[in-house]
Amino acid sequence: MEKIVSLCKRRGFIFQSSGIYGGINGCWDFGPLGVELKRNLKNDWWYVFVSQREDMVGLDASIIMHPSVWVASGHVEQFHDMLVDCKECRHRFRADHLEGDRCPDCGGELTEPRAFNSMLKTSLGVSDDTAVHTYLRPETCQSIFVDFKEIYSSSRVKIPFGIAQIGKSFRNEVNPRNFIFRSREFEQMEIEFFCKEEEEEKWFDHWRECIWQWYLDIGLHESKLRWLEHPKESLAHYSKRTIDVEYDFPFGWGELQGLANRGTFDLTAHGTHSGKDLSYFDPESKERFIPTVIEPSAGADRACLAVLCDAYDEDEVDGEKRVVMRLHPRLAPIKAGVFPLVKKDGLADLAMGLEKKLRKRFATFYDQGGAIGRRYRRMDEIGTPFCITVDYDTKENGTVTVRERDSMKQERIPMDEVGAFLDKHCGPERVDA
Ligand code: GAP
Repeated sequence: MEKIVSLCKRRGFIFQSSGIYGGINGCWDFGPLGVELKRNLKNDWWYVFVSQREDMVGLDASIIMHPSVWVASGHVEQFHDMLVDCKECRHRFRADHLEGDRCPDCGGELTEPRAFNSMLKTSLGVSDDTAVHTYLRPETCQSIFVDFKEIYSSSRVKIPFGIAQIGKSFRNEVNPRNFIFRSREFEQMEIEFFCKEEEEEKWFDHWRECIWQWYLDIGLHESKLRWLEHPKESLAHYSKRTIDVEYDFPFGWGELQGLANRGTFDLTAHGTHSGKDLSYFDPESKERFIPTVIEPSAGADRACLAVLCDAYDEDEVDGEKRVVMRLHPRLAPIKAGVFPLVKKDGLADLAMGLEKKLRKRFATFYDQGGAIGRRYRRMDEIGTPFCITVDYDTKENGTVTVRERDSMKQERIPMDEVGAFLDKHCGPERVDA
C-alpha cells in the first residue's frame, strides 16, 4: 500500500488535500493523472449502465437538499456510528471496527459507546437567525427518490427502469483511513432501479451479474473479488437485503460496492413526509403502486483504489526493476506516449505532428527527453498502454512502431492507422467481448 500511495503522490495521481497547511484528514485531491483515471472510470460506468441501456436514464441533482429529505429518509434518526473513546490515550474509534474491548493503540479502558450522526451539517442564508440548517448529502440516491415523479412523468420511461447518478457524497467518518478507501468527501455512482415487487428477485440477480461483469471488464482480477451477504440483523434501516462486492485490498478485504433491495421504503417515506403522491401508474395493467427499488451503489474512489492496487506490478527488464501499472487501456490516464527516436533529422517534427493529431481524440503525451528505454519506463509507471515511436523508417515508408506496455512487444503499423488502433484498444466498446 505504501508503494501505491507514494507512486500516486510522486506521479500526480492522488495526494492529500490542503497539503501546504498540513493536510486535512479524510480529504484527497486527484491530480492531473488521477483526474483522468477517475473520469475514465466514471465515463465507462455511465457508458455501460446508462448510455448502452434502453431502461436507464441519468440525473445530476444538487448536493444540498431540503432538510426534510434527511428526516424522511431516516438519516437524521438512524445514520449513526457508535463511538468509543480510550480513557487513557483519548483516541477515538468506531465500536464496530474494534475486535476486543480494550483500546487497540494503548490497551486502555474504553468508554461506553455513544451514537454520533455522520452527516455533515451546513447552513444556507446570510444571518444566523434566518439561516436554513441542512446537510451535505451522505448518499446521492435520495435526490433520485425525491425527483422520481418529475423524471418518470417527463421522460417516457416505463417500469422496469432505472435512474443513475454520479456525484459527491459527504460523511463525517470517525476514522478516515486506508488512503482514499474511507474518506469524508467521496464520489458515488448509484443506480435506483424501479420494478414491480414480484420481479424484485429477478432484477436483483440481473444487477448482481451486471456489476460483477463490470469489475471484470475494467480489468480487476476475479480472484480478488467476492460477494458478502449482510446478515439480517446488520441491515441498514431501509434495506430488505444487501450484498456487497468486496475487493482484496493490500490492507484486507473491503467493500467496493453494495447491492441492496430497498423495497418501497424511500418512495413511501418521501410520499408521506412531502404529502405528494409518489406512486406509479402502469398504463398497461391500469394499476397504481409504489415501485420496489433495487440499488447498485458503487464508490468511484474505492473503484479507483482497487484499479490502482490491481494494476501495480514490478518486474525486471534488462536486469533493472520496472514499475508498471497494468491499467486497462480504457482506464489509463494517457493512452499513448509519442516519441521521436532522436530529435534530429526531422523526426521530432514528424512525431509532434502525429501527437497533435492524436490529441484531438485521445489523451497522449509527447516526450523527446532521454534514452528511449527511460521514456518507456516513465510511461509504464503511469500505466500508458502504448508507446509510438517515429524513426527513420517512418520517413521512408510512413510506418511507426507501437510498443505494448505489458508484453513490451513492438509492431510496425502505418502512421495513419494509429488513430484506429487506439480506438480499438482504448475506446468504450467491448472489442474483447
Ligand atoms: N445509497 C446506498 C449507500 O450509500 P453505502 O454502502 O453506504 O450505501 C455505497 O455506500 C458505496 O459508497 C460504498 O460501497 C463505497 O464504495 C462508497 N463509500 C461509502 N462510504 C465511503 C467513504 N467514507 N469513503 C469512500 N467511499 C465510500
